[in-house]
This record gives sequence, C-alpha cells and structure tokens, in this order.
Amino acid sequence: MCIILGIESSCDETAIAVVKNGNQILSNIIASQAKVHEKYGGVIPEIASRIHIENISMVLKEALQTANITMEEIDAIAVTQGPGLIGSLHVGMICAKTLSMSYNKPLIAVHHIAGHIYANEFVDELKFPLLALVVSGGHTELIYMKEHYHFEVISQTQDDAIGEAYDKVAKVLGLPYPGGPHIDRLAKNGDNIYTLPAIKTENPFDFSFSGLKSSVLQLISRLQRTQQQYRIEDIACSFQERALDELIKRVDLAINHYEVSHVVLAGGVAANSRLREKMEQYMAGKSQKLTIPPLYCCTDNAAMIASAGYQAYLRKLFSKYDLAAKPSLNISKDNKI
Ligand code: KG4
Ligand code: ZN
Repeated sequence: MCIILGIESSCDETAIAVVKNGNQILSNIIASQAKVHEKYGGVIPEIASRIHIENISMVLKEALQTANITMEEIDAIAVTQGPGLIGSLHVGMICAKTLSMSYNKPLIAVHHIAGHIYANEFVDELKFPLLALVVSGGHTELIYMKEHYHFEVISQTQDDAIGEAYDKVAKVLGLPYPGGPHIDRLAKNGDNIYTLPAIKTENPFDFSFSGLKSSVLQLISRLQRTQQQYRIEDIACSFQERALDELIKRVDLAINHYEVSHVVLAGGVAANSRLREKMEQYMAGKSQKLTIPPLYCCTDNAAMIASAGYQAYLRKLFSKYDLAAKPSLNISKDNKI
C-alpha cells in the first residue's frame, strides 16, 4: 500500500488530496478563488498567491481529516513544480518542502500536465502506447507516451491555448470568467450558422487558436456594425464546433501516424460536454480505447498530482530540497526517467 499527499497551487485553485495506490481518492479538497478573480475578468497573480497562503493550511487540515489519516501514515509528498504562476507555485512548494522535512517523507516534483493525464487513472488503468489530447487554459498539445511517465510532446499550439480562446470569446460575449463552461452551456441552445475559417498550421499536427478567436471577434463587430440581430448562443455554438473539430482533426492525424492503444483527454477543457460527446462519436468502433476523466478531476485538483506522483514514487524519482518552482517547466525534457 502507498499513500501519497498531492499539493496543487499552480493557478487559482489551492488543492490538497490524499490518494491510495495511485487511483483511490481518500480526499480531494479544492479551495477555488474563481469568485475573486471573476471580478477582474482573469486571474491576478499577486492576489492568487496571497489567497493560496491564506488557505493552504486549512486545505491541508481538511484533506487529512477527510481521509482520516495522519501525516505519519503518508508515504510521500507530491507537488506541482510547474508550469504555472511563479508566486502561486511557490506556496505549494514551500508547503510540500516543510511537510517533507518535518515528517521525513520523500518529496516528488510533478509536472502539472502529467497530473492532468494521470487523472484518467481514476477511471481506467492507462495502456501504452498512449495519446493524450491535452486541452487546458494554458496548454493545447498532443502528448505521446510509450510507457508510464515518459512524455513526448508531438504537437502544441503556436499561439493561444484552446481554454484561453474559450475565455476570450466568452469575455467579448459579456460572460463571466472563466468563460469555457458558459460557452459550453449556451452552445447547447445555439445553431452552427456562422462559417468560421479552418485553422492552418505549418506542421499539420500543431494547433493555433488566435486566428479563430480573431474571426469570432470580427464576426461580432460586423454583426453589431451592420445592426443585425444575432443570438450569442449561435456564436458560442459556431465557435465551439470549429474549435473542437480542429482538435478531433489532429487526434485523427496522430492515431493514423503513431501506434496508439489508448487515447485520453486531459485538462480543464476536457470538462466540455460537446468535446466529450464528439470524442466518443469519433472513437466509436475504433480499436483504440478512449478514456475521459470524470468531471470532478478535469479542472485543477491535487488528486491528479498525487496519482502522477505515485508513478514517480514507484520509479524513486525523488527531489532534493533545492527543488525550485518552474513557471515554464518542460514535460518532455524535465520528466525523462
Ligand atoms: O486545466 P485548467 O483547470 O487550468 C489550467 O491548467 O489551465 O483549465 C482551465 C480552462 C479554462 O480556460 C476554462 O474556461 C476551461 O478550462 N474550461 C472549459 C470548461 N470547463 C473549464 N472550457 C470549455 N468547456 C467547459 N465545460
Ligand atoms: Zn490545469
């Protein structure tokens, strides 16, 4: 038996979880700051790190209480090292190092995206070779894993991440931050009536969302200038259909090009109901298995960090106390065994 305490504070969620054997959640506590940042239309880094400091001790206490466990019974402490906001990452890092030193437990550094991928372990055992479609507020990538804890980024976004595009389009439509879930909800009552241009990238596996975002902004300003009636539901739906089709197109290219046994979704945008539906439709009848993480661990949480940390624990990938938070940590380079 192995019990890992996971700590995640890379953006605006202060999260601590206790996970047994990599896939059994004993507790998963998240203190979200979304309501605070909503007022500013985005995350204010200075405020985020201050609130992490205020909340982290209470989140730790609650995570241990809910799991009905003491620090002595924990086998190791896994913490998000990056990528993320430097001030926010530091808070989780200091908490992890303090616990590691005080209780003499191994310290494990986890890449935030590795965590998102390992969230799938709560549903299915990962099978390799694996292809992960990573879609979050900061990342849009295809990651290829030929075995556990070996990450190869085979494509990435040339500009905006898909979550960022969702949030920017939502802002222009007057929706609160983060806008992704609002677009998801509105699009259900909309029709795909606006043709938005397909995305072209030099490397066909790569993504790009800034052009699509600009096309939506131009469409809205044209509709307003020419005083045409429009429904924001139709704009949300047209944007979403184009954006998601671009994701599926690249997954299709990748599974036809690489040997893949398992396809997984990862990251906050994996909570999108239409993406979940489209991926299921696309994968139906294919030989590769599809796993979609449960909604409760699509957006940032610490259970996923503990699950990835468990794999690092099995491989004895422990860190020293000079471990530093890295805002632009590289998953391919910094996670080779
Ligand atoms: O993974 P995450 O929690 O944080 C990062 O690591 O970036 O992802 C946050 C992103 C935000 O852009 C948010 O708008 C988006 O995930 N998101 C969604 C949905 N739920 C969250 N986007 C589309 N549809 C959703 N249902
Ligand atoms: Zn995330």
